[in-house]
Amino acid sequence: MTGAGSGIGRATALAFAAEGAHLWLSDVNDEGNRETAGLISRAGGHQARTLHCDVADEASVRAMAEEVHAEIPALDILMNNAGIGVAGRFLDTTLGSWRKVMDINLMGVVHGCHAFLPKMVARGQGGHVINTASAAAFVATPDMPAYATSKFAVQGFTEALRADMAGHGIGVTAVCPGIINTPIVANSIMEGQMGDEGVKDKVVRFYQKRNYTAERVADKILSAVRRNRAVQPVSPEAWFMYYAKRFTPRLIARLTRRELPFLK
Ligand SMILES: NC(=O)c1ccc[n+]([C@@H]2O[C@H](COP(=O)([O-])OP(=O)(O)OC[C@H]3O[C@@H](n4cnc5c(N)ncnc54)[C@H](O)[C@@H]3O)[C@@H](O)[C@H]2O)c1
Repeated sequence: MTGAGSGIGRATALAFAAEGAHLWLSDVNDEGNRETAGLISRAGGHQARTLHCDVADEASVRAMAEEVHAEIPALDILMNNAGIGVAGRFLDTTLGSWRKVMDINLMGVVHGCHAFLPKMVARGQGGHVINTASAAAFVATPDMPAYATSKFAVQGFTEALRADMAGHGIGVTAVCPGIINTPIVANSIMEGQMGDEGVKDKVVRFYQKRNYTAERVADKILSAVRRNRAVQPVSPEAWFMYYAKRFTPRLIARLTRRELPFLK
């Protein structure tokens, strides 16, 4: 699992561990990653292995895969979860931020699949790939064009991969969480008006007040794997966006043109 050192990754690692899974946890944040492993061991799970990996860096992902494959023939479940947030209108978003979010959120997922799927396929015993997308993969708002682009791409890639892997008995799921209370906003890049003083704090407080927990996302992820769901919207707002985009796209277009309350 990538991005295991915090939020949704950590909660999902704990949920899989409670089911008896042996886990390989990776993150760029070694401290957070070790903390997740510690939580698993205190909860009575199998000792989880921790690896440093930057998903944006192909060589780093390949080195992680080599370390894993030196001990086991293939993963049963691969979760490409590492991601960052980038907010700001198009005219305010730097190319550096575009590259960073595409390298982590999209290429991180592609790197993970590239490094681990060949062995899963060769083993011939099936398996599952979980890619963390977002409700931003259903509805792209003008305040997060780069993030939404990365998540639309993850969603599209996941759809193609699911069809491709079906013949190998490997399920593929895109998870679309919604507004989840994790440190993601605090660590996000915010540019333009979104970067104005106090805006990030307001968004952080909004996520905290919403308080939809990563543990609830983890429960849904486990059930999506069991049922081999193609797409798993999680919170009510994610389900709303999933259906509204299909059935009332004009309403969604009107809503996305509204100014965000944080900016008023
Ligand atoms: N929290 C939400 O509201 C929300 C909503 C939709 C989708 N998501 C997605 O869920 C995933 C997890 O996010 P979260 O909310 O748990 O956030 P988080 O910030 O709590 O966790 C993200 C983890 O990814 C790691 N990470 C960041 N860049 C990395 C890199 N280059 N290589 C390896 N690891 C890296 C971070 O160190 C962190 O541990 C992300 O893909 C995010 O886009 C989150």
